[in-house]
Amino acid sequence: MEKPFKLVLIVVLACLMGCTSATATKESVEDLYIKRCSGCHGVDGEPMKLNAPDFTDAEFQKSRSDEQFRVSILEGKDKMPGYKTEFDNEQVAALIAYIRTMAKEKK
Ligand code: HEC
Repeated sequence: MEKPFKLVLIVVLACLMGCTSATATKESVEDLYIKRCSGCHGVDGEPMKLNAPDFTDAEFQKSRSDEQFRVSILEGKDKMPGYKTEFDNEQVAALIAYIRTMAKEKK
């Protein structure tokens, strides 16, 4: 009676641990942005400090290519630090895509 119960418990626990670690390893791009970028760029892309550009400004967004954004995020730009030692290509691409969603057509 006791042994099968223990076995079930172990299986359930193992599954739970597996599930949580799988979701925790890859941070969502939103979390990443909020934690690492929003201090200067604002949660919604409206700049907070250091003359960061306004990501809600569609004109600004059009004035920069993804490649320019990528280089700026990796190498840094002026007062913004570079992140090439921390983020992989996938994360940088996801961040750029996320920033692109912030543009509002009419300001
Ligand atoms: C310490 C403040 C600060 C942090 C943190 C920061 N930025 Fe910036 N960011 C700036 C400033 C200031 C500029 C404007 C640089 C310039 O054009 O002189 C900028 C510019 C940019 C640009 C536009 C670059 C271009 O080519 O015009 C992008 C894209 C960007 N940041 C993305 C990010 C992302 C993504 C993060 C988080 C991983 C981040 N920033 C974190 C301050 C910051």
